[in-house]
Amino acid sequence: MDKPKVVLGVSGGIAAYKACELLRRLTESGHEVRVVPTASALHFVGAATWSALSGNPVSTEVWDDVHEVPHVRIGQHADLVVVAPATADMLAKAAHGLADDLLTNTLLTARCPVVFAPAMHTEMWEHPATQENVATLRRRGAIVIEPAVGRLTGVDTGKGRLPEPSEIFEVCRRVLARGVPEPDLAGRHVVVSAGGTREPLDPVRFLGNRSSGKQGYALARTAAARGARVTLLAANTGLPDPAGVDVVPVGTAVQLREAVLKAAADADAVVMAAAVADFRPRDYATGKIKKKDGQDPEPVVLVRNPDILAEISAERARPGQVVVGFAAETDDVLANGRAKLERKGCDLLVVNEVGERKTFGSEENEAVVLGADGSETPVPYGPKEFLAETVWDLVAARLS
Ligand code: CTP
Repeated sequence: MDKPKVVLGVSGGIAAYKACELLRRLTESGHEVRVVPTASALHFVGAATWSALSGNPVSTEVWDDVHEVPHVRIGQHADLVVVAPATADMLAKAAHGLADDLLTNTLLTARCPVVFAPAMHTEMWEHPATQENVATLRRRGAIVIEPAVGRLTGVDTGKGRLPEPSEIFEVCRRVLARGVPEPDLAGRHVVVSAGGTREPLDPVRFLGNRSSGKQGYALARTAAARGARVTLLAANTGLPDPAGVDVVPVGTAVQLREAVLKAAADADAVVMAAAVADFRPRDYATGKIKKKDGQDPEPVVLVRNPDILAEISAERARPGQVVVGFAAETDDVLANGRAKLERKGCDLLVVNEVGERKTFGSEENEAVVLGADGSETPVPYGPKEFLAETVWDLVAARLS
């Protein structure tokens, strides 16, 4: 099988160096990549780097290799064009159909999906000119990833950071596998909790669990791809922020509850993928608990944590809000799942069987999604994204 052909357009911003990592991920996962930098991008990363990492020639102008008509061929033959970083200038050129170098020519000749990963200062991103250009590009079917919030060049922080290369790669992989997603969650606000809560015993110790957060992140990523505004409540995950998602870090179950109640107030759907500790130590030692020679340790007394899923299911913040829970079971998976669905009062419950290679920390998952309406949707063993897509299919059906 031919390798998928990807054009990596690089425009002139300091984040150009991060595109090297995106390029490496694309080539290592079996894509044929042609890098098309703008002339100003070469001020940041030189042609030799792009050429060595891609294994292909690199040109910026339509005048190179004229006999091969590169300004037409590169775009025509591509399966995907991704521009990372996309500067304000590049978005403006693309929106207005300018074609004064090889990359802008390529954008006009491409008939494949096009992904822009913008990076610029907050003021430039928020300027009505840029926002209108982004809206134009989106209306025409391009995917423009929302920039991340965080450290910008120099001392500035704000919205405008290039999303993590690993996350831009995930967007590209999804588009190549499934095409440009239907924006069936556009205009919706969804809240996803991910990871595992940690309940502190003292300043250095906690009770925790093995949840990696990967399933919750896959849910957040896929909802953003389907057009939703996504709030991701991340409990101790250490994963890179998914592109275009608002990430709120939380620690304990009590903190997660507060964050869920706040975010759920205007949410169309809440998906509780986080592993929430059912119990927390009753007492917190402000100083480190020390061992004492010849003495047994003090027993740890536990108290119940609030059940967030049951609470938000019983008191919906909005009429019609869809609430989804997760359950990991080892025995009588379906019967236990049904009973839990009823007990919690949610609309959907994703039931995982805990076993080797499944669930904790792995890239794959297998589950059955139980509906309060009696429905049962099996999701075969596969990437966590597949399960995430099924969950959003079921949520979207209930919202419409
Ligand atoms: N959950 C929650 N608040 C808690 C505990 C769990 O919101 N205090 C949510 C989780 O996010 C998940 C679902 O409830 O969506 C899991 O339910 P839970 O009863 O914790 O599952 P198990 O731990 O598997 O339950 P049990 O011990 O009853 O098997």
